[in-house]
Amino acid sequence: MAELIRSDPGDQVAPISSTGDPTDHATDDAWFTAWRRRELSRVDRDGLTYADYTGSALAPESLLRGDAERLLGGVLGNPHSQHIASVRSSADIDEARDAILAFLGASPDEYRVILTANASAALKLVGESFAFGPDRELLLTADNHNSVLGMREFARRRGAAVRSVPFAEEFRIGMPAWGGGGLFAYPAQSNFSGVRHDLGLIALAQEAGYRVLLDAAAMVPTSRLDLARYRPDFVALSLYKIVGWPAGIGALVARHEALAELERPWFAGGTVDWVSVSHERHRLASGPERFEDGTPPFLVAGAVAPALAAVTAVDRDRLARHCHRLVARFLEGLDARRHPDGSPMAVIYGPTAAIDRGATVPFNLLGPDRSVVPHWDVERLAAARRLAIRGGCFCNPGCAEAAFGWPLERVGELLSALGEEFTVPRFGAALGDFPVGAVRASFGLGSVMADVDRTLEVLAEIATAG
Ligand SMILES: Cc1ncc(COP(=O)(O)O)c(C=O)c1O
Repeated sequence: MAELIRSDPGDQVAPISSTGDPTDHATDDAWFTAWRRRELSRVDRDGLTYADYTGSALAPESLLRGDAERLLGGVLGNPHSQHIASVRSSADIDEARDAILAFLGASPDEYRVILTANASAALKLVGESFAFGPDRELLLTADNHNSVLGMREFARRRGAAVRSVPFAEEFRIGMPAWGGGGLFAYPAQSNFSGVRHDLGLIALAQEAGYRVLLDAAAMVPTSRLDLARYRPDFVALSLYKIVGWPAGIGALVARHEALAELERPWFAGGTVDWVSVSHERHRLASGPERFEDGTPPFLVAGAVAPALAAVTAVDRDRLARHCHRLVARFLEGLDARRHPDGSPMAVIYGPTAAIDRGATVPFNLLGPDRSVVPHWDVERLAAARRLAIRGGCFCNPGCAEAAFGWPLERVGELLSALGEEFTVPRFGAALGDFPVGAVRASFGLGSVMADVDRTLEVLAEIATAG
Protein backbone atom coordinates (compact mmCIF):
# COMPACT_ATOMS: atom_id res chain seq x y z
CA MET A 1 0.00 0.00 0.00
CA ALA A 2 1.40 3.37 -0.97
CA GLU A 3 2.01 6.04 1.62
CA LEU A 4 -1.03 8.27 2.05
CA ILE A 5 -0.68 11.97 1.64
CA ARG A 6 -3.00 13.95 3.87
CA SER A 7 -4.49 16.93 2.20
CA ASP A 8 -5.15 20.06 4.13
CA PRO A 9 -8.93 20.39 4.39
CA GLY A 10 -8.62 23.98 5.45
CA ASP A 11 -7.22 24.75 2.02
CA GLN A 12 -10.22 23.63 0.14
CA VAL A 13 -13.31 23.35 2.27
CA ALA A 14 -14.73 26.02 4.48
CA PRO A 15 -15.38 24.73 8.00
CA ILE A 16 -18.86 23.45 8.77
CA SER A 17 -19.37 26.19 11.27
CA SER A 18 -16.81 28.65 12.44
CA THR A 19 -18.90 29.41 15.49
CA GLY A 20 -20.08 25.88 16.21
CA ASP A 21 -23.61 27.26 15.99
CA PRO A 22 -25.88 24.53 14.59
CA THR A 23 -28.34 27.10 13.24
CA ASP A 24 -25.76 28.09 10.59
CA HIS A 25 -26.76 24.99 8.73
CA ALA A 26 -30.45 25.93 8.64
CA THR A 27 -29.60 29.49 7.68
CA ASP A 28 -27.53 28.42 4.71
CA ASP A 29 -30.12 25.89 3.62
CA ALA A 30 -32.87 28.51 3.81
CA TRP A 31 -30.68 30.86 1.77
CA PHE A 32 -30.10 28.26 -0.96
CA THR A 33 -33.75 27.20 -0.88
CA ALA A 34 -34.76 30.79 -1.62
CA TRP A 35 -32.07 31.05 -4.32
CA ARG A 36 -33.32 27.84 -5.89
CA ARG A 37 -36.93 29.05 -5.88
CA ARG A 38 -35.81 32.20 -7.67
CA GLU A 39 -33.26 30.75 -10.06
CA LEU A 40 -34.25 27.15 -10.74
CA SER A 41 -38.03 27.15 -10.53
CA ARG A 42 -38.06 24.88 -13.62
CA VAL A 43 -36.56 22.07 -11.57
CA ASP A 44 -39.43 22.16 -9.09
CA ARG A 45 -41.98 22.71 -11.88
CA ASP A 46 -40.67 19.50 -13.47
CA GLY A 47 -41.01 17.78 -10.10
CA LEU A 48 -37.37 16.78 -10.48
CA THR A 49 -34.88 15.92 -7.80
CA TYR A 50 -31.63 16.70 -9.53
CA ALA A 51 -28.59 14.91 -8.14
CA ASP A 52 -26.28 14.84 -11.16
CA TYR A 53 -24.26 18.02 -10.66
CA THR A 54 -21.00 16.28 -11.46
CA GLY A 55 -22.58 15.59 -14.85
CA SER A 56 -23.66 19.19 -15.29
CA ALA A 57 -24.63 22.17 -13.19
CA LEU A 58 -27.99 23.87 -13.82
CA ALA A 59 -28.05 27.40 -15.19
CA PRO A 60 -29.73 30.08 -13.05
CA GLU A 61 -32.69 31.75 -14.75
CA SER A 62 -31.30 35.26 -14.35
CA LEU A 63 -28.18 34.17 -16.19
CA LEU A 64 -30.18 32.70 -19.08
CA ARG A 65 -32.43 35.76 -19.32
CA GLY A 66 -29.45 38.09 -19.19
CA ASP A 67 -27.80 36.10 -21.92
CA ALA A 68 -30.83 36.19 -24.17
CA GLU A 69 -30.82 39.99 -23.76
CA ARG A 70 -27.12 40.12 -24.54
CA LEU A 71 -27.55 38.07 -27.72
CA LEU A 72 -30.55 40.09 -28.86
CA GLY A 73 -28.99 43.40 -27.88
CA GLY A 74 -26.30 43.67 -30.55
CA VAL A 75 -24.86 41.94 -33.57
CA LEU A 76 -22.01 39.50 -32.92
CA GLY A 77 -19.90 38.26 -35.80
CA ASN A 78 -16.93 36.06 -36.47
CA PRO A 79 -14.09 37.66 -34.51
CA HIS A 80 -11.52 37.43 -37.28
CA SER A 81 -12.65 40.69 -38.94
CA GLN A 82 -12.55 44.44 -38.30
CA HIS A 83 -16.26 45.31 -38.46
CA ILE A 84 -18.19 46.25 -35.35
CA ALA A 85 -19.89 42.85 -34.95
CA SER A 86 -16.48 41.21 -35.09
CA VAL A 87 -14.82 43.68 -32.72
CA ARG A 88 -17.63 43.08 -30.22
CA SER A 89 -17.02 39.33 -30.31
CA SER A 90 -13.29 39.87 -29.82
CA ALA A 91 -14.04 42.00 -26.76
CA ASP A 92 -16.29 39.22 -25.39
CA ILE A 93 -13.51 36.70 -25.86
CA ASP A 94 -10.99 38.91 -24.05
CA GLU A 95 -13.48 39.46 -21.25
CA ALA A 96 -14.05 35.69 -20.96
CA ARG A 97 -10.30 35.12 -20.58
CA ASP A 98 -10.07 37.80 -17.88
CA ALA A 99 -13.07 36.42 -16.02
CA ILE A 100 -11.64 32.90 -15.93
CA LEU A 101 -8.32 34.19 -14.61
CA ALA A 102 -10.09 36.21 -11.91
CA PHE A 103 -12.28 33.23 -10.95
CA LEU A 104 -9.14 31.21 -10.30
CA GLY A 105 -7.24 34.03 -8.61
CA ALA A 106 -4.64 33.80 -11.39
CA SER A 107 -2.46 36.69 -12.43
CA PRO A 108 -2.25 37.50 -16.15
CA ASP A 109 1.49 37.93 -15.57
CA GLU A 110 1.67 34.24 -14.79
CA TYR A 111 -1.22 32.53 -16.60
CA ARG A 112 -2.96 32.61 -19.96
CA VAL A 113 -6.40 31.33 -20.90
CA ILE A 114 -7.03 29.33 -24.04
CA LEU A 115 -10.69 28.88 -24.85
CA THR A 116 -11.67 25.37 -25.86
CA ALA A 117 -14.87 23.43 -26.49
CA ASN A 118 -14.70 21.72 -23.08
CA ALA A 119 -12.26 20.28 -20.53
CA SER A 120 -11.47 17.29 -22.76
CA ALA A 121 -10.36 19.57 -25.58
CA ALA A 122 -8.15 21.48 -23.12
CA LEU A 123 -6.55 18.22 -21.98
CA LYS A 124 -6.03 17.08 -25.55
CA LEU A 125 -4.23 20.32 -26.39
CA VAL A 126 -1.64 19.51 -23.74
CA GLY A 127 -1.44 15.82 -24.64
CA GLU A 128 -0.82 16.36 -28.32
CA SER A 129 1.66 19.22 -27.81
CA PHE A 130 3.69 18.14 -24.80
CA ALA A 131 7.32 17.22 -25.48
CA PHE A 132 7.03 13.64 -24.22
CA GLY A 133 10.03 11.47 -24.96
CA PRO A 134 12.10 8.59 -23.63
CA ASP A 135 13.26 10.77 -20.74
CA ARG A 136 10.01 12.76 -20.28
CA GLU A 137 7.33 10.44 -19.01
CA LEU A 138 3.62 10.78 -18.43
CA LEU A 139 2.83 10.19 -14.78
CA LEU A 140 -0.88 9.64 -14.16
CA THR A 141 -2.87 8.70 -11.09
CA ALA A 142 -5.15 5.68 -10.69
CA ASP A 143 -7.96 8.21 -10.30
CA ASN A 144 -8.34 10.04 -13.58
CA HIS A 145 -11.07 10.78 -16.08
CA ASN A 146 -10.74 9.10 -19.48
CA SER A 147 -10.03 12.49 -21.00
CA VAL A 148 -6.80 12.57 -18.98
CA LEU A 149 -6.00 8.88 -19.44
CA GLY A 150 -6.28 9.37 -23.20
CA MET A 151 -3.09 11.46 -23.11
CA ARG A 152 -1.15 8.23 -22.73
CA GLU A 153 -1.73 7.55 -26.44
CA PHE A 154 0.23 10.71 -27.32
CA ALA A 155 2.95 9.90 -24.79
CA ARG A 156 3.41 6.36 -26.08
CA ARG A 157 3.68 7.52 -29.67
CA ARG A 158 6.60 9.67 -28.60
CA GLY A 159 8.32 6.78 -26.86
CA ALA A 160 7.59 8.04 -23.35
CA ALA A 161 6.97 5.80 -20.36
CA VAL A 162 3.46 5.97 -18.90
CA ARG A 163 3.13 5.22 -15.21
CA SER A 164 0.29 5.43 -12.75
CA VAL A 165 0.38 6.38 -9.08
CA PRO A 166 -1.68 3.77 -7.18
CA PHE A 167 -4.33 4.45 -4.59
CA ALA A 168 -3.56 4.62 -0.93
CA GLU A 169 -6.53 4.18 1.40
CA GLU A 170 -10.06 5.36 0.62
CA PHE A 171 -9.36 6.25 -3.02
CA ARG A 172 -6.78 8.84 -2.07
CA ILE A 173 -3.60 9.11 -4.07
CA GLY A 174 -0.43 7.70 -2.61
CA MET A 175 2.90 9.51 -2.65
CA PRO A 176 4.19 9.25 -6.22
CA ALA A 177 7.50 7.57 -6.92
CA TRP A 178 8.97 10.40 -8.95
CA GLY A 179 10.97 9.52 -12.02
CA GLY A 180 13.09 11.69 -14.27
CA GLY A 181 10.42 14.31 -15.02
CA GLY A 182 7.82 14.90 -17.70
CA LEU A 183 4.13 15.57 -17.16
CA PHE A 184 2.19 14.72 -13.99
CA ALA A 185 -1.58 14.79 -14.53
CA TYR A 186 -4.19 14.36 -11.82
CA PRO A 187 -7.66 15.54 -10.79
CA ALA A 188 -8.18 18.17 -8.10
CA GLN A 189 -11.37 16.30 -7.28
CA SER A 190 -12.42 12.86 -8.40
CA ASN A 191 -15.50 12.72 -10.60
CA PHE A 192 -16.00 9.16 -9.31
CA SER A 193 -15.34 9.18 -5.58
CA GLY A 194 -15.58 12.90 -4.86
CA VAL A 195 -12.18 12.74 -3.12
CA ARG A 196 -10.28 16.02 -3.09
CA HIS A 197 -6.68 15.21 -3.83
CA ASP A 198 -3.79 16.99 -2.25
CA LEU A 199 -2.89 20.19 -4.06
CA GLY A 200 0.43 20.09 -2.23
CA LEU A 201 1.46 17.48 -4.82
CA ILE A 202 1.75 20.24 -7.40
CA ALA A 203 4.84 21.81 -5.88
CA LEU A 204 6.34 18.40 -5.07
CA ALA A 205 5.98 17.30 -8.68
CA GLN A 206 7.42 20.53 -9.99
CA GLU A 207 10.43 20.18 -7.66
CA ALA A 208 10.89 16.67 -9.05
CA GLY A 209 11.07 18.04 -12.61
CA TYR A 210 7.49 17.64 -13.81
CA ARG A 211 5.08 20.00 -15.42
CA VAL A 212 1.74 19.54 -13.64
CA LEU A 213 -1.65 19.32 -15.30
CA LEU A 214 -4.50 19.71 -12.84
CA ASP A 215 -7.89 18.51 -14.04
CA ALA A 216 -10.13 20.92 -12.15
CA ALA A 217 -13.36 20.09 -14.00
CA ALA A 218 -15.03 18.43 -11.00
CA MET A 219 -13.62 20.66 -8.28
CA VAL A 220 -14.24 24.24 -9.34
CA PRO A 221 -18.06 24.07 -9.46
CA THR A 222 -18.26 23.93 -5.67
CA SER A 223 -14.88 24.94 -4.35
CA ARG A 224 -12.26 27.60 -4.83
CA LEU A 225 -9.08 26.81 -6.69
CA ASP A 226 -6.59 29.55 -5.89
CA LEU A 227 -3.87 29.75 -8.50
CA ALA A 228 -2.09 32.45 -6.52
CA ARG A 229 -1.43 29.77 -3.92
CA TYR A 230 -1.16 26.55 -5.93
CA ARG A 231 0.58 26.94 -9.24
CA PRO A 232 -0.03 24.02 -11.59
CA ASP A 233 1.35 24.50 -15.09
CA PHE A 234 -1.94 23.62 -16.76
CA VAL A 235 -5.54 23.63 -15.53
CA ALA A 236 -8.49 22.22 -17.48
CA LEU A 237 -12.15 23.04 -16.88
CA SER A 238 -15.60 23.21 -18.51
CA LEU A 239 -18.01 26.10 -18.00
CA TYR A 240 -21.25 24.08 -18.08
CA LYS A 241 -20.03 22.11 -15.05
CA ILE A 242 -19.56 25.30 -13.03
CA VAL A 243 -22.92 26.95 -13.47
CA GLY A 244 -24.71 25.12 -16.31
CA TRP A 245 -24.18 27.84 -18.91
CA PRO A 246 -22.59 28.53 -21.33
CA ALA A 247 -22.26 25.03 -22.75
CA GLY A 248 -19.69 24.27 -25.44
CA ILE A 249 -16.92 26.28 -23.86
CA GLY A 250 -14.07 25.27 -21.60
CA ALA A 251 -10.57 26.49 -20.91
CA LEU A 252 -6.98 25.52 -20.66
CA VAL A 253 -5.35 27.87 -18.16
CA ALA A 254 -1.60 27.64 -18.56
CA ARG A 255 1.50 29.21 -17.14
CA HIS A 256 3.33 31.28 -19.74
CA GLU A 257 6.54 29.28 -19.70
CA ALA A 258 4.75 25.93 -19.76
CA LEU A 259 2.69 27.08 -22.72
CA ALA A 260 5.82 28.23 -24.54
CA GLU A 261 7.20 24.67 -24.31
CA LEU A 262 4.22 23.10 -26.08
CA GLU A 263 4.79 22.15 -29.71
CA ARG A 264 1.62 22.31 -31.75
CA PRO A 265 1.38 19.34 -34.10
CA TRP A 266 -0.48 21.34 -36.74
CA PHE A 267 -1.94 24.73 -37.58
CA ALA A 268 -5.49 25.73 -38.38
CA GLY A 269 -7.57 28.76 -39.23
CA GLY A 270 -7.15 31.39 -36.55
CA THR A 271 -3.92 29.93 -35.12
CA VAL A 272 -1.43 31.46 -37.55
CA ASP A 273 0.07 34.82 -38.46
CA TRP A 274 0.70 33.54 -41.96
CA VAL A 275 0.82 30.39 -44.08
CA SER A 276 2.59 29.99 -47.40
CA VAL A 277 1.38 27.28 -49.75
CA SER A 278 4.18 27.76 -52.25
CA HIS A 279 6.88 27.64 -49.56
CA GLU A 280 5.06 25.17 -47.33
CA ARG A 281 5.79 27.28 -44.28
CA HIS A 282 3.69 28.89 -41.59
CA ARG A 283 4.10 30.94 -38.45
CA LEU A 284 1.89 30.32 -35.43
CA ALA A 285 0.30 33.27 -33.66
CA SER A 286 2.10 34.27 -30.49
CA GLY A 287 -0.87 34.64 -28.10
CA PRO A 288 -3.37 32.06 -26.86
CA GLU A 289 -4.82 32.14 -30.39
CA ARG A 290 -2.01 29.77 -31.40
CA PHE A 291 -3.95 27.05 -29.56
CA GLU A 292 -7.48 28.04 -30.59
CA ASP A 293 -8.26 26.10 -33.73
CA GLY A 294 -10.78 27.66 -36.07
CA THR A 295 -13.50 30.08 -35.11
CA PRO A 296 -13.73 30.51 -31.34
CA PRO A 297 -17.10 30.15 -29.55
CA PHE A 298 -17.87 33.83 -30.13
CA LEU A 299 -21.60 33.71 -29.43
CA VAL A 300 -21.21 32.22 -25.96
CA ALA A 301 -17.91 33.85 -24.93
CA GLY A 302 -19.90 36.86 -23.71
CA ALA A 303 -21.76 34.60 -21.29
CA VAL A 304 -18.62 33.48 -19.44
CA ALA A 305 -18.09 36.56 -17.25
CA PRO A 306 -21.77 36.76 -16.15
CA ALA A 307 -21.80 33.00 -15.51
CA LEU A 308 -18.78 33.16 -13.23
CA ALA A 309 -20.14 36.30 -11.59
CA ALA A 310 -23.33 34.36 -10.79
CA VAL A 311 -21.29 31.82 -8.80
CA THR A 312 -19.22 34.47 -7.11
CA ALA A 313 -22.44 36.25 -6.13
CA VAL A 314 -23.71 33.28 -4.12
CA ASP A 315 -20.47 33.43 -2.11
CA ARG A 316 -18.27 30.48 -2.95
CA ASP A 317 -17.34 29.85 0.67
CA ARG A 318 -21.00 29.59 1.59
CA LEU A 319 -21.54 27.21 -1.34
CA ALA A 320 -18.58 25.02 -0.31
CA ARG A 321 -19.83 24.92 3.29
CA HIS A 322 -23.37 24.08 2.17
CA CYS A 323 -22.21 21.29 -0.18
CA HIS A 324 -20.06 19.92 2.60
CA ARG A 325 -23.14 19.63 4.80
CA LEU A 326 -25.22 18.13 2.00
CA VAL A 327 -22.71 15.39 1.40
CA ALA A 328 -22.31 14.73 5.13
CA ARG A 329 -26.07 14.25 5.44
CA PHE A 330 -26.22 12.04 2.37
CA LEU A 331 -23.34 9.84 3.52
CA GLU A 332 -24.78 9.48 7.01
CA GLY A 333 -28.27 8.79 5.66
CA LEU A 334 -27.15 6.19 3.14
CA ASP A 335 -24.90 4.47 5.63
CA ALA A 336 -27.69 4.34 8.23
CA ARG A 337 -30.38 2.83 5.97
CA ARG A 338 -30.94 -0.84 6.85
CA HIS A 339 -33.12 -3.69 5.71
CA PRO A 340 -35.34 -5.28 8.40
CA ASP A 341 -32.64 -7.90 9.10
CA GLY A 342 -30.18 -5.10 9.84
CA SER A 343 -28.17 -5.52 6.64
CA PRO A 344 -27.06 -2.33 4.86
CA MET A 345 -29.00 -0.93 1.92
CA ALA A 346 -25.90 0.37 0.19
CA VAL A 347 -22.19 -0.04 -0.23
CA ILE A 348 -20.43 3.31 -0.56
CA TYR A 349 -17.16 3.54 -2.50
CA GLY A 350 -14.52 5.90 -1.16
CA PRO A 351 -14.55 7.89 2.05
CA THR A 352 -17.71 7.68 4.09
CA ALA A 353 -16.80 10.75 6.14
CA ALA A 354 -17.25 14.24 4.73
CA ILE A 355 -13.57 15.11 4.99
CA ASP A 356 -11.40 16.21 2.04
CA ARG A 357 -14.15 15.44 -0.40
CA GLY A 358 -16.68 17.11 -2.64
CA ALA A 359 -20.42 16.43 -2.80
CA THR A 360 -20.13 13.44 -5.15
CA VAL A 361 -20.85 9.96 -3.81
CA PRO A 362 -20.64 6.64 -5.69
CA PHE A 363 -22.42 3.63 -4.28
CA ASN A 364 -24.39 0.53 -5.13
CA LEU A 365 -27.71 -0.40 -3.62
CA LEU A 366 -28.04 -3.77 -1.93
CA GLY A 367 -31.32 -5.64 -2.01
CA PRO A 368 -32.89 -7.48 0.96
CA ASP A 369 -30.93 -10.60 -0.14
CA ARG A 370 -27.71 -8.50 0.10
CA SER A 371 -27.04 -8.72 -3.62
CA VAL A 372 -26.14 -5.61 -5.64
CA VAL A 373 -29.08 -4.06 -7.46
CA PRO A 374 -27.71 -3.48 -11.01
CA HIS A 375 -26.95 0.17 -11.51
CA TRP A 376 -29.01 0.30 -14.71
CA ASP A 377 -32.07 -0.83 -12.75
CA VAL A 378 -31.45 1.81 -10.08
CA GLU A 379 -31.06 4.52 -12.73
CA ARG A 380 -34.25 3.43 -14.48
CA LEU A 381 -36.32 3.14 -11.28
CA ALA A 382 -34.97 6.46 -10.03
CA ALA A 383 -35.86 8.13 -13.33
CA ALA A 384 -39.40 6.81 -12.99
CA ARG A 385 -39.53 8.58 -9.61
CA ARG A 386 -38.12 11.77 -11.16
CA LEU A 387 -34.78 11.46 -9.45
CA ALA A 388 -31.86 12.38 -11.72
CA ILE A 389 -28.79 10.36 -10.78
CA ARG A 390 -26.15 8.68 -12.90
CA GLY A 391 -25.11 5.05 -13.27
CA GLY A 392 -21.98 3.46 -14.76
CA CYS A 393 -18.25 3.94 -14.32
CA PHE A 394 -18.35 7.70 -14.97
CA CYS A 395 -15.44 7.61 -17.46
CA ASN A 396 -13.09 6.78 -14.59
CA PRO A 397 -11.97 3.18 -15.08
CA GLY A 398 -9.18 3.35 -12.47
CA CYS A 399 -11.65 4.10 -9.70
CA ALA A 400 -14.06 1.49 -11.06
CA GLU A 401 -11.39 -1.22 -11.04
CA ALA A 402 -10.50 -0.39 -7.45
CA ALA A 403 -14.10 -0.01 -6.27
CA PHE A 404 -15.47 -3.24 -7.63
CA GLY A 405 -12.50 -5.44 -6.73
CA TRP A 406 -12.30 -6.92 -10.22
CA PRO A 407 -9.73 -9.68 -10.72
CA LEU A 408 -7.58 -7.69 -13.13
CA GLU A 409 -6.05 -10.63 -14.97
CA ARG A 410 -9.51 -11.99 -15.72
CA VAL A 411 -10.62 -8.53 -16.90
CA GLY A 412 -7.76 -8.49 -19.43
CA GLU A 413 -8.74 -11.93 -20.71
CA LEU A 414 -12.38 -10.93 -21.02
CA LEU A 415 -11.65 -7.69 -22.85
CA SER A 416 -9.63 -9.67 -25.41
CA ALA A 417 -12.22 -12.43 -25.65
CA LEU A 418 -15.22 -10.11 -26.02
CA GLY A 419 -13.50 -7.84 -28.54
CA GLU A 420 -16.07 -6.18 -30.77
CA GLU A 421 -18.86 -8.03 -28.94
CA PHE A 422 -18.23 -6.06 -25.73
CA THR A 423 -21.25 -4.70 -23.91
CA VAL A 424 -21.40 -3.89 -20.21
CA PRO A 425 -24.04 -6.57 -19.43
CA ARG A 426 -22.03 -9.19 -21.39
CA PHE A 427 -18.85 -8.17 -19.61
CA GLY A 428 -20.69 -8.35 -16.27
CA ALA A 429 -22.18 -11.75 -17.01
CA ALA A 430 -18.77 -13.14 -17.95
CA LEU A 431 -17.05 -11.56 -14.96
CA GLY A 432 -19.44 -13.20 -12.54
CA ASP A 433 -20.13 -11.94 -9.09
CA PHE A 434 -18.79 -8.38 -9.37
CA PRO A 435 -20.60 -5.09 -9.96
CA VAL A 436 -19.74 -3.53 -13.31
CA GLY A 437 -20.87 -0.07 -12.42
CA ALA A 438 -22.13 2.11 -9.62
CA VAL A 439 -24.67 4.82 -9.00
CA ARG A 440 -23.50 8.36 -8.39
CA ALA A 441 -25.34 11.10 -6.55
CA SER A 442 -23.85 14.57 -6.73
CA PHE A 443 -24.97 17.90 -5.35
CA GLY A 444 -24.10 21.48 -6.20
CA LEU A 445 -25.37 25.02 -6.69
CA GLY A 446 -29.15 24.60 -6.47
CA SER A 447 -29.17 21.56 -4.18
CA VAL A 448 -30.83 21.80 -0.79
CA MET A 449 -31.30 19.45 2.15
CA ALA A 450 -34.74 18.44 0.84
CA ASP A 451 -33.00 17.05 -2.29
CA VAL A 452 -30.73 14.93 -0.14
CA ASP A 453 -33.68 13.61 1.85
CA ARG A 454 -35.74 12.86 -1.26
CA THR A 455 -32.76 11.12 -2.90
CA LEU A 456 -32.36 8.93 0.18
CA GLU A 457 -36.07 8.18 0.26
CA VAL A 458 -36.15 7.07 -3.39
CA LEU A 459 -33.02 4.98 -3.00
CA ALA A 460 -34.48 3.25 0.06
CA GLU A 461 -37.66 2.43 -1.92
CA ILE A 462 -35.58 0.91 -4.72
CA ALA A 463 -33.35 -1.07 -2.34
CA THR A 464 -36.37 -2.35 -0.43
CA ALA A 465 -38.00 -3.57 -3.63
CA GLY A 466 -34.64 -5.23 -4.45
C1 LIG B 1 -12.90 15.25 -13.60
C2 LIG B 1 -13.35 15.42 -15.02
N1 LIG B 1 -12.44 15.66 -15.96
C3 LIG B 1 -12.76 15.84 -17.24
C4 LIG B 1 -14.06 15.77 -17.65
C5 LIG B 1 -14.39 15.98 -19.08
O1 LIG B 1 -15.16 17.13 -19.20
P1 LIG B 1 -15.88 17.49 -20.56
O2 LIG B 1 -16.80 16.36 -20.85
O3 LIG B 1 -16.60 18.75 -20.27
O4 LIG B 1 -14.84 17.63 -21.59
C6 LIG B 1 -15.06 15.50 -16.71
C7 LIG B 1 -16.47 15.35 -17.13
O5 LIG B 1 -17.28 14.77 -16.48
C8 LIG B 1 -14.70 15.35 -15.36
O6 LIG B 1 -15.61 15.10 -14.42
